Amino acid sequence: MKILFLSSEVVPYSKTGGLADVAGALPAALAEIGHELLVATPRYGHIQPPDGLEALDPPLTLRFPFGPQAAHYALHGRAPNLRVLFIGNDAFFARPGIYNDPSGSDFPDNHRRFAFFTLAALSGAQHLGFVPDIVHFNDWQTGLGPLALRRGYAGTALARAKSVFTIHNLAYQGLFPKRVMEDLGLPWDVFTPEGLEFYDHVNFLKAGLVWADALTTVSPRYAQEIQTPEAGYGLDGLLRRRTGDLHGILNGIDAREWNPAEDPYLPARYDQDALDGKATCRRELLSRFGLTTTDGPVFGIVSRLAGQKGFDILIPALEHALGEDIRLVVLGSGEARYEAGFRALQQHHPDKVGLRFGFDVALSHLVEAGADFFLMPSLYEPCGLNQLYSLRYGTVPVVRAVGGLDDTVVDVDADLAHGTGIKFGPYDAGAAAHAIGRALELWRDPPRLRAVRRRGMHQDFSWTRSARAYEALYRSLVRPESAAGQQLPAARKAQ
Ligand code: ADP
Ligand code: GLC
Repeated sequence: MKILFLSSEVVPYSKTGGLADVAGALPAALAEIGHELLVATPRYGHIQPPDGLEALDPPLTLRFPFGPQAAHYALHGRAPNLRVLFIGNDAFFARPGIYNDPSGSDFPDNHRRFAFFTLAALSGAQHLGFVPDIVHFNDWQTGLGPLALRRGYAGTALARAKSVFTIHNLAYQGLFPKRVMEDLGLPWDVFTPEGLEFYDHVNFLKAGLVWADALTTVSPRYAQEIQTPEAGYGLDGLLRRRTGDLHGILNGIDAREWNPAEDPYLPARYDQDALDGKATCRRELLSRFGLTTTDGPVFGIVSRLAGQKGFDILIPALEHALGEDIRLVVLGSGEARYEAGFRALQQHHPDKVGLRFGFDVALSHLVEAGADFFLMPSLYEPCGLNQLYSLRYGTVPVVRAVGGLDDTVVDVDADLAHGTGIKFGPYDAGAAAHAIGRALELWRDPPRLRAVRRRGMHQDFSWTRSARAYEALYRSLVRPESAAGQQLPAARKAQ
């Protein structure tokens, strides 16, 4: 099949979170099983042109009520059947930030930037003569795409494509005041509660959920959670109505990028049969964070510093846990209040807490490798990738039992034969502190800890399996008759 895949961030070119990892790896996995992929993404100012980047001249002009906009295209072939289509427009994309300025404020014209990106991607495919069977949209930035396919591109070759919309995070919806309808030239008849209206605002994500042929999200558990008022962010009713079209497909990990046996970012490599290298990584990690060595466990965090990630319960829990002989290393960027919370912990425990605020891919690999436990007590978590990287790196995840965390980690006490991590339920600091206490108990039982680590390292979260689930979904859309009577693997998991 021919698949056009749109994402506002793609590893290795741009990244703020897991969406970029997925958009880097899933199309590659689909290409490996024989499909033809065109991945469209904005050409941000900081992107170094990859070798062999080919400009497609002349640019196309897209017309909007706010003025004509030039789309400068450049193509990069990653493999014969995997090409990346960069969409350039310096006024929109050559800025110091992908969604917000360095102070953390969203760019005020994000509706224009991402509407432009989405339409330029569709027009770019046409321009190239790429006629997709499937157009796969991701998150709110591309939410207007399924609507555009039904309206603006009706009657073109693109209109025969089926659309898939993936929710990576329901909390980020792309909500804008209704004057944006005029600004973007959207037809007013879609500004209804059944359409893209959301409490008198324009909701880009909702447009994706209403008009895409199929919806997916990134774990089976999250697919269920978002159909409830607690985790539905006002869209649970719509998602319940579309329940038959909503599939939970777990993310995978890029097993080449995240492999402790070959990781170029590490001072020593290791695998499940020879863990010595992990001890070297641990020493290097403590020294990089200016911490002394210890016989106690090292807890690691790599995260966006956002409410989603559970720091409101974790920081008080750590205040308590740091009374023990443990070390804590934090690599994160985001909200100032959480930076302040971690700084306060460091002030109270300067020899036990190491902090780095910023985005540092190399250091994120060292934290995964050098830590003994990885903390991820999320309030909600659509899938989560860091717990999967942790499992692969023999770093025992301590997680809250929500979304993809619940689907991917097996609690060591609940299942002695299969346990891979520590899970807790209630969203409160006491429960988080108790989970850290259980990690300390496991630390004091080295044979058991070794068994848990090895089991984690044996788990297979490679993309191949998930790519097959997406493939089955695509096929069911393109040739519904051949899928009739068969239950999709993805659908089965979500129920
Ligand atoms: P989310 O997408 O919600 O942020 P995920 O766990 O799916 O959460 O993915 C986060 C990705 O971003 C991982 O690849 C993680 O290593 C990376 N990451 C998060 N914060 C940082 C940081 N400060 N420096 C480097 N990488 C980071
Ligand atoms: C989102 C989610 C995260 C998920 C990632 C990739 O950013 O917060 O849980 O792993 O997307 O799908």
